[in-house]
Amino acid sequence: MMEQIQESIQRRAAEIEGIIKSYLPAEAGPQRTVLEAMNYSVLAGGKRLRPMLMQETYRMFGGRGREVEPLMAAIEMIHTYSLVHDDLPAMDNDEYRRGRKTTHVVYGEAMGILAGDGLLNLAWETAMRSFSVSGQDAGFVQSAEDPTRDEAVRMRRVAGAVEVLARKAGVYGMIGGQTADIEAEGEGQVSGEQLLFIHEHKTAALIQAAMMAGAILAGADKEQVLQMERCAYDIGIAFQIQDDILDVTGTVEELGKPIGSDKKNQKQTYVTIMGMEASVREVERLSGEAVKILASMEGDSGFLRELTAFLIHRKK
Ligand code: IPE
Ligand code: IPE
Ligand code: MG
Ligand code: MG
Ligand code: MG
Repeated sequence: MMEQIQESIQRRAAEIEGIIKSYLPAEAGPQRTVLEAMNYSVLAGGKRLRPMLMQETYRMFGGRGREVEPLMAAIEMIHTYSLVHDDLPAMDNDEYRRGRKTTHVVYGEAMGILAGDGLLNLAWETAMRSFSVSGQDAGFVQSAEDPTRDEAVRMRRVAGAVEVLARKAGVYGMIGGQTADIEAEGEGQVSGEQLLFIHEHKTAALIQAAMMAGAILAGADKEQVLQMERCAYDIGIAFQIQDDILDVTGTVEELGKPIGSDKKNQKQTYVTIMGMEASVREVERLSGEAVKILASMEGDSGFLRELTAFLIHRKK
């Protein structure tokens, strides 16, 4: 069972790898250094969890086309830029990521900043390509009676998905969470509420963007999109608590990034506030909630449910 799901995750990750690669820049021209640094950070690997959640949510709501692919690449570029900047000396100051030296260690701090900026912009350029995936490739069923109206519906879905991604990646999402995370450093007392704000925004927001965008693109209705926002909140908070746990109990070899980074930076985490045992239980509880929401959906949520359960025991 465990091996089966691991295998399907790997298969999907390999497919996603190809999609991401097809949108990465050629390393040429006078700005070659920044292009190399961008590719270095994206191609280092990573679980590709966010594009996977986006694609599978799209499929669960009946999506069958390729219009989701540019958005899958875009969200991984945004996630990767957030990691490159998160590792900078001014932020978490870490030297390993995805099993390699961090981007700023290899290319210098200025290039680390620029590579992050470059990825963020390339993400939007790439996301916009979802608009031009042609009707048939988009998997959109034309009603023939009114193709102009069909096209308008399709465009609205893409626009909705891009808007959600922009909001959840920005100051009301990931960047907002990173801001609160940095400001809470070294603070003796961080309330449970403050910590939840940090986790919800720095981590759950992009996971919400992944699942909501996938749902919107496939034509899910408002209520269904809200359900995905709630489900991804549970998955996202559980994911960050597990990240906090692994910062204590993990190994560099498995994680591909340093352990003890939170302690070094005097971060309050779920583990420091609630303790290890309660943290482990909370990951299980939240994942269970997410699985319940998925099970209540009409479409086939089998893979998403197994993936969510798998993440509880992840070691990387
Ligand atoms: C790391 O994300 C940052 C967090 C939000 C915890 P991942 O654990 O998804 O990192 P990669 O993409 O697999 O490297
Ligand atoms: C980072 O949280 C979340 C981001 C938005 C990058 P962490 O700082 O805990 O992530 P890791 O442990 O460095 O991957
Ligand atoms: Mg951080
Ligand atoms: Mg960090
Ligand atoms: Mg961490």
